[in-house]
Amino acid sequence: MVAHHRVSRTGPLAPVGCPEKPRGASRTVEASSQTRGSKAQTTIGDVLRWLSSLARDSYPEDGLYRGSPSTPLTGILLCWFANAGAREAALRHNLNLIVTHETPFFETPSRDPGCPPPADWLANKQTAAFYDNHGIAVARYHRTLDAFCIPRAVGAHLGFPPPSVHEGHKGYEFTLVYDLEPTPFEQLARQVKEKMKLPAIRLSAGDGRRTVRRVGLGWGGVSLSANLQYMELLRQHGAEVIIGGEVDEYALEYYRESGMDWIELGHYATEAIGLEQVARELGATFASTPLLCHKDSQRLVFL
Ligand SMILES: [Fe+2]
Ligand SMILES: [Fe+2]
Repeated sequence: MVAHHRVSRTGPLAPVGCPEKPRGASRTVEASSQTRGSKAQTTIGDVLRWLSSLARDSYPEDGLYRGSPSTPLTGILLCWFANAGAREAALRHNLNLIVTHETPFFETPSRDPGCPPPADWLANKQTAAFYDNHGIAVARYHRTLDAFCIPRAVGAHLGFPPPSVHEGHKGYEFTLVYDLEPTPFEQLARQVKEKMKLPAIRLSAGDGRRTVRRVGLGWGGVSLSANLQYMELLRQHGAEVIIGGEVDEYALEYYRESGMDWIELGHYATEAIGLEQVARELGATFASTPLLCHKDSQRLVFL
C-alpha cells in the first residue's frame, strides 16, 4: 500500500480561500443528522460520520485520536497539520474538534530499542497534554481526503486538463499523468509558481529550454524517496517532469538518473488546495457550525 503521506482523487474545483475567522455564529447548532423531528445538538460524532462517508475504502489511520464522539460540538478547525498554531487557533476560537490531514502525533515505522516509544517523545507528550487539558478532540482524515479530492484539486488549480492516466487502488489514484501543450521546462516552472502564488520554488532540471509535455503529479509527500515506486510508475507512463510536494536529495538523484525534471511546490501548499474544497463541503453540510480552515505558514527561512 502507499505509505504515509501518500497516495490518492475528484472533480475540478474553483479554488476559494479559507475564511480567516470561523464561519457561522452559533455555538450550539441544530443537528444535521439527527432523527427526523428532533432538535438534538450536533456532536463530534456527526462530523466524523460525514467525513467517514467520503472514504472510498477503509483507511485505518483515519478517525478519532482524542476525545469522544458523543461530545456536543462547538466548532471545527480543519487543518493540514495539527501543530501548535492550529491547536492554539482552535482554543482561541472555542472550536472543540480539530480535523487534521496529517498525523496528530509523530510516529516512526520502526524503532531502535534505545529509543523511547513515540508516546514518550516530548512533542507527543506536549500535544497529548494540550488535548487532555482543554477538552479538544482531534481526528485525522488522511487517505480519505486524498482519495476524495486532494491531488485532483491540485491539477485543476494548476489549470491542467483532466489526467490522461489516473490509476490506483483502495479507491484512490496515486498515478496521475497530465498531457500539456508542449512547453519549455523553465516556462512551465514559472507558470506553476505563479498559479500557486509561491515566492520561491525549487527545481531540478537538465536544460531549462527542453520542451516537456507529459507531467506526473507527486503531490504532498508522494514524491519523497519513501514513495519512489509510485514515481517509477509515473516514469513508466512517460512522465518527463514530476510536479511534487516535497523531496529529499536521495529522491532527487532518482529523478535525475531516470531522466526526469522535477518541480517542488511544497507538501503543505499542494495539499491545502484540496483541504479548502473539503472545508467548503463541510461548511455546507454543517452550515450553522463555526468552522475555521486553518492556514499554516511555511516556516522555512531562506538566507
Ligand atoms: Fe501529506
Ligand atoms: Fe495527503
